[in-house]
Amino acid sequence: MKFFIDTAEIDEIRSLAPSGLVDGVTTNPSLIAKSGRDFKEVIAEICDVIDGPVSAEVAATDSEAMIAEGKALAGIAGNVCIKLPLTFDGLVACRTLVDAGHETNVTLCFSANQALLAAKAGATYISPFIGRLDDMGIDGMDLIEEIRAIYDNYLFETQILAASIRTVNHVRASALAGADVATIPPSTLYALAKHPLTDKGLDAFLKDWAKTGQSIL
Ligand code: G3P
Repeated sequence: MKFFIDTAEIDEIRSLAPSGLVDGVTTNPSLIAKSGRDFKEVIAEICDVIDGPVSAEVAATDSEAMIAEGKALAGIAGNVCIKLPLTFDGLVACRTLVDAGHETNVTLCFSANQALLAAKAGATYISPFIGRLDDMGIDGMDLIEEIRAIYDNYLFETQILAASIRTVNHVRASALAGADVATIPPSTLYALAKHPLTDKGLDAFLKDWAKTGQSIL
């Protein structure tokens, strides 16, 4: 499973990059707005820090303008992945941009039928929003499982990018369901490594080691 970081906060990305755990980054208009920065500058900076795909989302809603904006976003850096909303215009723009050689991430996916259309439009990634379905009392993981089954039925190469991830259980369940990528808030990524028994065991090891009076170096 690939891990993308879901943020436009460059300091958080710089902190995580040396871990080797970051395979890409996803942003969206809300994350860019939250950063308070010029979108071109922050996308360029992220692309300079992370070699993997960096999703940057169009703001237009008609296909022609989406295509123009997508090409402008792709011009910022070679690893920009153009993010498009899952609307009919977004699907048309996706097909055109993919045929022009660009990577695309079709986002705001909430149904298996939408994901089927995105795959037929040649999307590189599909972003089903787990957390927002959970917010409505709908099990977002069911969607991941349905998309996985449909894509496997027809050998679609579109990668399932589990998004709107709020908890470590979302990551675990997405991995079990066969998502190709999880885009994870930095805090959730750090939380993945935490377990109270690990902390307790390490504390005991270090206390016992201290009693030996030895040092490894
Ligand atoms: O990548 C999509 C993600 O940023 C949306 O998350 O928590 O606003 O549903 P959330």
